[in-house]
Parts: sequence; structure tokens; C-alpha cells
Amino acid sequence: MSDVCFSSDRVPHVGIFDSGVGGLSILRALLRACPQARFSYVADTAYAPYGQRAPQDIHARSVHLTQHLFDQGVDCVVVACNTATTQAIDMLRQAFPHRPFVGVEPGIKPAAAASRSGRVGVMATPGTLASARFEALVQRHAAHCAVTRVPCPGLASAIEAGLPNAEVEALLDVFCQPLRAAQVDTVALGCTHYPFVADRVAARLGPAVRIVDTAEAVARRTRSVLGLPVTAEGGPTSTDAQRCMLFTTADAAALRQQTHSLLGADVWSVQKISEVLAH
Ligand code: DGL
Repeated sequence: MSDVCFSSDRVPHVGIFDSGVGGLSILRALLRACPQARFSYVADTAYAPYGQRAPQDIHARSVHLTQHLFDQGVDCVVVACNTATTQAIDMLRQAFPHRPFVGVEPGIKPAAAASRSGRVGVMATPGTLASARFEALVQRHAAHCAVTRVPCPGLASAIEAGLPNAEVEALLDVFCQPLRAAQVDTVALGCTHYPFVADRVAARLGPAVRIVDTAEAVARRTRSVLGLPVTAEGGPTSTDAQRCMLFTTADAAALRQQTHSLLGADVWSVQKISEVLAH
């Protein structure tokens, strides 16, 4: 049974937030999986990156952005950030009882299931890898695997700066090295920014290593929470941008340009919102 009910003439409205452009990898999958829905997306760029922030900062930011999304009238909130999900989704569910949330966590379960050698890698922010929720995920789904954890400080920020760029390449050289040394055969991308550099990770690890990104699974879970029917999924369409309203706590023109370059040629509507927490 779905968590939300709609009359047939009502357009489902999905809220999404991330520290920046990483959640656009989730939005991309949602646009495909939920062609009936519209979307409000917040990039908390004034407070990015989240990966090295204290949990109490992430809690405060998550409540602020979630409140903004519910003020827009969204039916559910997708926490399109592994760092915010692992550190704050339990608190969000308590703060907004009876409101549906969908979280994004590193794909440890599919990675462990896909691995033939039992040697699995995960790339994520320091905050995600230090969280109790991440450790519980490993114990639950990958206790039988050797899990190589690679914290990637600076990588999300380097991706925010625009692709391609030399800093991203240099960081990936460093962060892929322990994965090669451990001879992993499967790597979970545990940060929503990283799917935008999945091809570069794959190029460094070789064709035998499988890369796991959970965006499509998150989109299917959201569709089920909304009670939407399964439809044939196509590629990007000319109406994608018309179904989205983007918000940022930093520069609207910069987010418009980043979205254009990461998701495609549409003209995206972007509005700046206050980064100041409401008390
Ligand atoms: N995209 C986010 C994640 O999935 C956060 C990256 C960051 O702000 O450090 O973890």
C-alpha cells in the first residue's frame, strides 16, 4: 500500500534536497520513474559540503530545508544526500511525523549481493562513513564481505566546481588507489555527487569492477511511496525542466548553469532562498 493517496486530477509533488548538485543525480532518475510528478529541489550550496560538518549542523539544515519543501506543498521529501540521510533522517521522521521521507544510503546491500569475490568498496563522505547508520548497514548486509571504506573529502566540492576539472581527476587518482590495492570487484558510490563521475571511477578501476549507484532504486521507492503506477521509462524529455522548480541557498545563476550542464539543455527555473535558519 502507498503512503500517499491522490485523486486522479492531482499532480504528485516531490520535494528533494541535497547540499548542492549531487541530488540532481536522484532528480534525473525521478524524472524518468515518475513522469506524472512535479518536483521541488533545494541545493543548500551556502552550507556545502555536508561531508565534514558536525551532525547537529546537518540536523539543523535538514529541518530548515524540509520545512521549506513542505511549505511548497510537497507530498514527500527525498533526502537526496547520503550524509544527511545517515545522520538526520531518523530525526526528520520524528520532527515531521506522518510525513513520508525517502532516504539515500550507500548501496552496500546491492554491492555485497553483486560481488563475486566478497571484496567490496565504498566511496562516501567522511560523515557518512563515520555514521552509526552506515556501520549498521554493513553489519546487516555485508558482514561476510571485506569492505574497503574510502572517505573522499573534497570530492563533492570539486564536482560542484564543474566538470570536467583537474582537481576531480587528481582526487579520483588518490581515492581509487586503495580500491585497486584491495582488489575490490564492486564499488558503491555512497554520495549523490559521485554518479556524475562514475565513468571516471570506472576508467580507473577497469571494466571488471561493477559500480553501484542507488538512484534508480530510490526513484522506484519514491514512486511506490506516492502510489504511482509503473510506466515505461524513457530518456530525458523536453518537459523535464517544466516539471521542476529549483531552489538554492547560494547563487541562482550558478545552479541554473550547473543543472544545464549535468542534466541537459533545458532552461531550468531557479530561485534563491534564505540560508538563514528559522527559529
Ligand atoms: N551529496 C551528498 C551525499 O550524498 C553530500 C556531499 C557533501 O556535501 O559533502 O553525501
